[in-house]
Amino acid sequence: MTKAITDKFSRPLRDLRISVTDRCNFRCRYCMPSEIFDKYFKFLPKNDILTFEEITRLASVLANRGGVKKLRITGGEPLMRQNLSTLISMLHEIEGIDDIAMTTNGVFLPKYAEELKLAGLKRVTISLDSLNDQTFMAINDRGIGVHKVLEGIEAARQAGLDVKINMVVKRGMNEEDILPMAHFFKDTSIILRYIEYMDVGNSNGWTLDHVISKQEIFNMINKELPLEPVEPNYVGEVADRFRFKDNGQEIGIISSVTDAFCASCSRARLSADGKLVTCLFSSGGHDVRDVLRSGATDEELAAFVKSIWEKRDDRYSEERLKHTNKQQLKKIEMSHIGG
Ligand code: GTP
Ligand code: 5AD
Ligand code: SF4
Ligand code: SF4
Repeated sequence: MTKAITDKFSRPLRDLRISVTDRCNFRCRYCMPSEIFDKYFKFLPKNDILTFEEITRLASVLANRGGVKKLRITGGEPLMRQNLSTLISMLHEIEGIDDIAMTTNGVFLPKYAEELKLAGLKRVTISLDSLNDQTFMAINDRGIGVHKVLEGIEAARQAGLDVKINMVVKRGMNEEDILPMAHFFKDTSIILRYIEYMDVGNSNGWTLDHVISKQEIFNMINKELPLEPVEPNYVGEVADRFRFKDNGQEIGIISSVTDAFCASCSRARLSADGKLVTCLFSSGGHDVRDVLRSGATDEELAAFVKSIWEKRDDRYSEERLKHTNKQQLKKIEMSHIGG
């Protein structure tokens, strides 16, 4: 039996989020603003990026010796990485992994959904912040229309993948879309989750005024489409779950700003270039690539990660309001660790 590794607050390492590329075909204003992520921006060179074999070895060591049960593939946009289904099938072979999911903007799903499902992917979480073309194009800054994402959602469903939708809510950007999105997804079997806008990275100019709180989102929906709470699926679930009283369809609200969930955070993040990051708001990561490429044994690799996790005392979201008035530390960009 694997003994779970725990951190300073007794939080186990259960969930590994693997970024496979720092590139994206979108330039969402709140994540990769095009004036920073422009044609001169230096994305990671190929040699710096972990190979599928390196990723699989690390995931396997962490599943066998560290208690990791859940994998999520992220980016940038993970489907920008060539032959991603091959990686999924390699990860699918690992004993002890119960769940492999992916976070994607959905645009490439018509091309890849079927092969991803065949390779062993269970679920996709597709980002969609508006059903209004003008708003959506202003957000993605690449002239990509809503229909491209809807086609991706449909392809994922056809392929038999479970689908959730993530909608980042930012005041001044898409509050008018909260209700239309609720109406649209209420009559599908797809769970829509609203996400409070967070101060990730250094590029998005976040202020507290941009945040529409969980309570506000709830009130806005509940007034028109009455909701009732649903028990969490598992300890440490990030979304508060609700269902529509009339048809039972579920929605979620993720309140990382106004009601943080650090106390149960069991997530480690691996950047495409092999940095192990213990918090979404960390200023840096620990270089696992070096260890992987130094000829270390599985025991040594597991011991390295264990030593990092045992020192972990991150709880940024619980302490955020203490930080916001001060000079900010430099944080990792979301496009490096995939949210
Ligand atoms: P399920 O496995 O489907 O329950 O997914 P999840 O809710 O863990 O995953 P998802 O990646 O879809 O998370 C949704 C959003 O919640 C992310 O895009 C982030 O914005 C936010 N989020 C997820 N994990 C964390 C975290 O550890 N800290 C903070 N602050 N936000 C997080
Ligand atoms: N706040 C909240 N969520 C964000 N995402 C990206 N940037 C932010 C932010 N500043 C979301 C994306 C996607 C997931 C990876 O994280 O929309 O759903
Ligand atoms: Fe947008 Fe996701 Fe790409 Fe960031 S990684 S620019 S949130 S699609
Ligand atoms: Fe986990 Fe850091 Fe997010 Fe808190 S802020 S839930 S510690 S990733």
